[in-house]
Amino acid sequence: MSAVAPVSPTPRVTAPSLRAMKEAGRPIVMLTAYDYHAARLVEAAGVDAVLVGDSLGMTMLGYSSTLPVTIDDMVRATAAVSRACSHALVIADMPFMSYAADHAEGMRNAGRLIAEGGAHAVKVESASTATLDLVEGLVDAGIPAMGHVGLTPQSVNTLGGYHAQGKDVASATLAIAQSLSLEDAGAFAIVLECVPAELAERISELLTIPTIGIGAGSGCDGQVQVFHDLLGLGEFLPKHAKRYADIGGAIMQAVSAYANDVRDGAFPRDEQSTHLSIDVIDQIDAVIAEVAAEEDIAEFGEGLLL
Ligand code: KIV
Repeated sequence: MSAVAPVSPTPRVTAPSLRAMKEAGRPIVMLTAYDYHAARLVEAAGVDAVLVGDSLGMTMLGYSSTLPVTIDDMVRATAAVSRACSHALVIADMPFMSYAADHAEGMRNAGRLIAEGGAHAVKVESASTATLDLVEGLVDAGIPAMGHVGLTPQSVNTLGGYHAQGKDVASATLAIAQSLSLEDAGAFAIVLECVPAELAERISELLTIPTIGIGAGSGCDGQVQVFHDLLGLGEFLPKHAKRYADIGGAIMQAVSAYANDVRDGAFPRDEQSTHLSIDVIDQIDAVIAEVAAEEDIAEFGEGLLL
C-alpha cells in the first residue's frame, strides 16, 4: 500500500472502541445529525458517535413517521454527515423495508450507506429473522451492525403507536430475548428506546456489547438523543428528551429581525453591497440613455448581446 493515511489529531471512534468504553465504564455520547453543518458542530462538541437516524423523515422532511424514508434519502444525508466527521463514529439507519423483503437487497443497501455514504456502521430495527440474518451477513461482510430494541418506530403499525415497551413481563422478556439474539448475531451495540429504566439496566448488565438508551434511564452504557429535541427545533418535546437550548426561538428572532430590516430599508447597507467607480457609472448611464431613446427597446437589447 503506497498511500499514507491522513494523520488526525484525535483518533477515530470505532465500533470496537465503543465496547472498550463500556468495559472502562465510560458513558458513550451519541446524537443524531442529518446534514453537514449540524454534524460539524456535533462533532466539534465532542460526541463519540453521530447517528444519521431515519428520524430525518420527521425532523428534516416533514413526514409524520419514519416509514416513507428511502435508502436514497439516507445515503444522501449520511454522505453529508460523513464529510463533516473526522473523529466521531458515523452510524446510518437502514430505513423501513430496505432489507425486510430480500436479504441480498439489504446487504447492497447497507453497502451503499458505507461506500457512498461514508458511514462506519449501520443500524437495524427489531430482531426479526430478516434483521438477525442481515446482522450476521453484515458482520461477515465487514460492516458493523447496531441493533435497536424496545420502541422501534418502523413497527409503529404493529406496536399500535409510539408507546413505551417492556412494561410487563412478556414484553420485557421479549426485549431481553431480542437484545441477546442481536448480540449473538454479532451486533456491536444496541439502542434501547423507550423501555423502563430497570429493564434497560438489567439488559445492559446481561450484554457484553454496549447499550445506548433513549428514554431508557441512566443504566445504559450510553445515551442517544435527537438533535432537534435537544436544541429546541422540534414541534414538541418527547418525555425522554431535555431541551438544552432554544435554537428554534433564536432562529425565529433572527429571521423576524431580518424581515423587519428589509421592510424598513435597514438591510442591506453599504457594507453588504458592492459599488461602481464614477467612470463606469457614467458609461453605463450613457448606455441606458441610448436604450431609452430607442423605439424598439427589445430589438436594441438583442443587438447589445451580439
Ligand atoms: O432514527 C433515529 O433517530 C433513531 C434514534 C431515536 C435512536 O433511531
